[in-house]
Amino acid sequence: MPQITQLNLPAGLIDLGVGQPDIALLPLDLLKKSAEHRFNQSDPSPLQYGTEQGNGYFRRALARFLSPGYGMPVDPDQLFITAGATYGLDLICTYFAKAGDTIFVEEPTYFLALHIFADRRLNVVGISIDDKGMIIEALEEKLAKHQPAFVYTIPTFHNPAAVTLSASRREKLVRLSEKHNFLIVADEVYQLLAYTATPPAPMISFDQAGTVLSLGSFSKILAPGLRLGWIQAGDEFLRRLAGSGLLLSGGGLNPFTASVVQSALELGLQDEHLTQLKKIYRLRSAALVAALHEHLPASVSFVEPEGGFFVWLQFPEDVDTASLRRKARQQDIDFQPGVNFSTNRGLHNFMRLCFVYYDSDDLGKGVQRLVKIFPEE
Ligand SMILES: Cc1ncc(COP(=O)(O)O)c(C=O)c1O
Repeated sequence: MPQITQLNLPAGLIDLGVGQPDIALLPLDLLKKSAEHRFNQSDPSPLQYGTEQGNGYFRRALARFLSPGYGMPVDPDQLFITAGATYGLDLICTYFAKAGDTIFVEEPTYFLALHIFADRRLNVVGISIDDKGMIIEALEEKLAKHQPAFVYTIPTFHNPAAVTLSASRREKLVRLSEKHNFLIVADEVYQLLAYTATPPAPMISFDQAGTVLSLGSFSKILAPGLRLGWIQAGDEFLRRLAGSGLLLSGGGLNPFTASVVQSALELGLQDEHLTQLKKIYRLRSAALVAALHEHLPASVSFVEPEGGFFVWLQFPEDVDTASLRRKARQQDIDFQPGVNFSTNRGLHNFMRLCFVYYDSDDLGKGVQRLVKIFPEE
């Protein structure tokens, strides 16, 4: 599996493979105001060990924030505070799967999740996707051969493929989870980042038998360095997580950070910031898509993103994007090759580009550099 390190970019390089927010958009002033508001309460309790599930006032503020964006009422008692979606996923792997278990993921899937699954010694099986997300018939074929502990899915504005699971497939996936007795771990960190279309409501709104656990995060809507996110799930799951040795010893996750973000939520600052981010990301997405339409050869195709962070390019079968990378570096451009997102070293003819880290000018420049390394038609 490729090793990926945190960001350290050489000067001049445009790395469209970076899937992080632009440092210039990280909300320093917002957090300063929120921290001041919190400190002005003269309440030292956020500095104490936190309650295992997460502070109730914070969960209430989070539920109020999420309900309109999710298009469904969110119950604060169904929220469990995490140190980010990654941490949530790791906890779920610990408590709802054991080494040697099979899990299903989309092919392609979020590449760093594959590292978590490898750490947990899980047997990962890929399910093909199309422009409406996971293909249900492909899932049914695999269910005839395997009993997964859970299906890990990124249903909305998929990383890397930019597609969204349709409402009817959500329905079918949930019904299959009931019939075949597996959990659905829905990584919904892009749910609130819709630019040109409203996605279906989160997976949990389709859940009747309590098979869905949903992951959310402040990394994509506020700042990744906060390490703050949530799991939304039924009581039984949350009790299990809150009763873990990890939580019993260390207390709830990041209670101090949560108290600052609670102020950001209560003061309406998170709402304002998200509105602003969506405006900027929508423009950047449009700039990247326009540059791609202008410069890409006809043999390369992609689904236009309606939200999220990414564009996923599909090249003809004989192109191996990983082997284009050396040439790319010579042109001061980089990207994520498709193979990184594959469960079986496949997807060699795909490439992920991100449109949130760079501004529109750099995105345009990046595409012009990128097309220079493409094989001649
Ligand atoms: C699908 C997906 N899940 C999880 C994460 C990581 O989220 P967090 O920073 O909350 O751990 C990312 C970040 O790229 C992501 O794309």
